[in-house]
Amino acid sequence: MKKLATTFLAAGIMASALAASSVILAVEVDDNLDKVNYKSSVWKNKQFSKITLYPQTTIEFNDKKANELNADNKAIEAEVAAVYNGSKIAFMIKWPDGTKNIQKGYATDVYSDGFAVQFASEYSNPTKLPYIGMGSEGRPVVIHLQKEAMGIFEPNGEGDVAHQVNPNQTDLFGKDLAKFKKSVKKLASNDYERSFVSEGFRSMTEIKDGSNDSYSRIGYATKGWEGTLSRALKDDYVNLDAGVIPVAFAVWDGAKMGRNGLKYLTPWLAVELDGKSSGEELLKALTKEPEGDAAKGKEIAAANCTSCHQLTSNDAANLMGPSLTNIGGYATVDYIKESLMKPSAVVVPGYNRNAHSNYAWYNLENGKRVSTMPDFSWMESGDIDNVVAYLKTLKAEVE
Ligand code: HEC
Repeated sequence: MKKLATTFLAAGIMASALAASSVILAVEVDDNLDKVNYKSSVWKNKQFSKITLYPQTTIEFNDKKANELNADNKAIEAEVAAVYNGSKIAFMIKWPDGTKNIQKGYATDVYSDGFAVQFASEYSNPTKLPYIGMGSEGRPVVIHLQKEAMGIFEPNGEGDVAHQVNPNQTDLFGKDLAKFKKSVKKLASNDYERSFVSEGFRSMTEIKDGSNDSYSRIGYATKGWEGTLSRALKDDYVNLDAGVIPVAFAVWDGAKMGRNGLKYLTPWLAVELDGKSSGEELLKALTKEPEGDAAKGKEIAAANCTSCHQLTSNDAANLMGPSLTNIGGYATVDYIKESLMKPSAVVVPGYNRNAHSNYAWYNLENGKRVSTMPDFSWMESGDIDNVVAYLKTLKAEVE
């Protein structure tokens, strides 16, 4: 059994060394990008890049059924294209999903498919990007979320979904409701676009004053979804008017009760704005391959990390720290290295408080989160590189 595991590991290392580092090219267009959707002609003849989204396994959910449904999740391969003009940038993502799950306003246990595009508010230091799972203290992100919602009656015609009639209250409205529903169907809004500024899971603040200037749409095509986002190149929250920008994508699978951190996630990916200069340093950081020896790193990790972390799905879940079973999929080399050298630089914000009530992932010191993970900066730098190389191999295969 042990021998088999080593062989798999070796194959994994080779595969990741061969995988081309993906850079998404945003091409400059003359089209108006204010209200782009997945049917817009701007996507015609544009090149789509393959991206891989990994199951986010950081937090053990407090939901037995959802955990069972997601126990053996594989990675998802999606396709992304990007375009920009003088004031806007737009993205289209296509991802496979065999079932169409839609948000229903009245049901709390029904989850929908959806996607999000995430931007780093600050990326001038490419080795200190925000935490990939919705930012972290002092390193905010902007997130645009879209999922298909059931049509809800919206009386003002302004997409103001706060004023709605719950069509499930048939006991209150009786047959009249059926007639009413038909006549208002034309007025219904299926839109669920939300934008947030976030410094970590559970600290999301919705931008409601329209100052984010974004537009997002989603639609189900054959066996998968197509979603678009267009937004200002520059606003109060981010400045994307640069040669290279870091962007991350997430998708949720409603059929697997996906919501919040139960999702599929890319690492920070490099989007290159064709024709604009600068950004080589960021590009290098986002496409960096590990330098160390993963086989050596595996031994070091077994001796130093397994008391707190689950490293592969064969290990028993160990909730003293986040599960690292997919960390190689959604973390960059620099992020993993920083986690080891300075655990408190980014403190993974959310965890299952019920799992180890006596053992928190962080303590509050003078209002700042301080990680309970020991600092490994005492390790020889070669060994740090080896551990980083091993952690980069920890990721699910593509479905
Ligand atoms: C005493 C328990 C403990 C040990 C031992 C430990 N860690 Fe951690 N680790 C944590 C905790 C708690 C967190 C979450 C708080 C934070 O972000 O620092 C964490 C976070 C991390 C993260 C960030 C995870 C994410 O999802 O972003 C990485 C990477 C990591 N540890 C790697 C390691 C490696 C590699 C080792 C061994 C060399 C190790 N840890 C040893 C407790 C530990």
